[in-house]
Amino acid sequence: MNNNVYNDLLIHGFIQEKVDEDVDIVKEILKLKEEKNAIILAHYYEIAEIQDIADFIGDSLELSKQAAETNADIIVFCGVHFMAETAKILSPQKKVLLPDLKAGCSLADSCPEQEFEKFIAQYPEHIVISYINTTAGIKALTDIICTSSNAAKIINSLPEEQKIIFAPDKNLGDYLNSITGRKMVVWNGACHVHERFSLEKIVALKNENPDAKILAHPECEKPVLIMADYIGSTSALLKYSVNDKAEKYIVATESGILHQMKRKSPEKSFIPAPPDDSTCGCNECNFMKLNTLEKVYLCMKYELPEIIIEEDMRKRAEKSILKMMEISNKPGL
Ligand code: 13P
Repeated sequence: MNNNVYNDLLIHGFIQEKVDEDVDIVKEILKLKEEKNAIILAHYYEIAEIQDIADFIGDSLELSKQAAETNADIIVFCGVHFMAETAKILSPQKKVLLPDLKAGCSLADSCPEQEFEKFIAQYPEHIVISYINTTAGIKALTDIICTSSNAAKIINSLPEEQKIIFAPDKNLGDYLNSITGRKMVVWNGACHVHERFSLEKIVALKNENPDAKILAHPECEKPVLIMADYIGSTSALLKYSVNDKAEKYIVATESGILHQMKRKSPEKSFIPAPPDDSTCGCNECNFMKLNTLEKVYLCMKYELPEIIIEEDMRKRAEKSILKMMEISNKPGL
């Protein structure tokens, strides 16, 4: 059954979208996991209930390593589409499920394939480094993939005179230019979550909490990064919050990460950096939050929606991810 058939069945009510109230969803998920030899991978931005049942929670790099190494037959990827797609590229023989197929990524969407192909054609002699937050089509046009945890290492592994195109995140690209001293040509894309932090509100929070340190993801805009005491991937921010001596942090990334921060350091306090347009004060990715426990249960029960990639595209996309793994795993770079 392909995903369109699944959608039709959902629309016509042949597959339940709602789970009966008397079903113990967590118990059923754990049972299905055993029966089907499935593994549940979750990004830090997922809702707390999903993080609590996951076999592994991680940032983009750690999750793709898990996806490549697991012995499970089914990978239930609780994240957004490009993450599940990356898992499928690395583990084509496995069934990869995404609880909600509509869980997209604004950053991946900001880099359409045809336009990117024209863009890179303008810069011959450039190596293309793309962030993992891209479609398989963009990965196929890329020489080396990177994530926020290994991007600087990957750039630094190339000779200084090597010309580079970096896509799609302009904030991350500009930040990487500043810390590596390169002059990469940067695609003009951005993540809707990291772009909408309010500098004014962060400054106000810092004034109210002068002892709080500011932690920021490198996808944030430059003024937020300038204010930050520490910049890193979601895993790096989490690690920093555990090992650092401060007692209070203002966290400028998707607020799902606060669940693990609070869990690992219950004695510390964590304040989500607010976006411009919110009254609740936290900055959530609406795509990440589309995955729910109910949808995890249903996708495991029906083994749908499944990520399918055409083999030629998969092979071309895989090369750039494997190149990333090779450089990323090299000690001492
Ligand atoms: P990391 O998982 O590398 O921290 O990146 C998170 C992300 O996708 C931000 O949009």
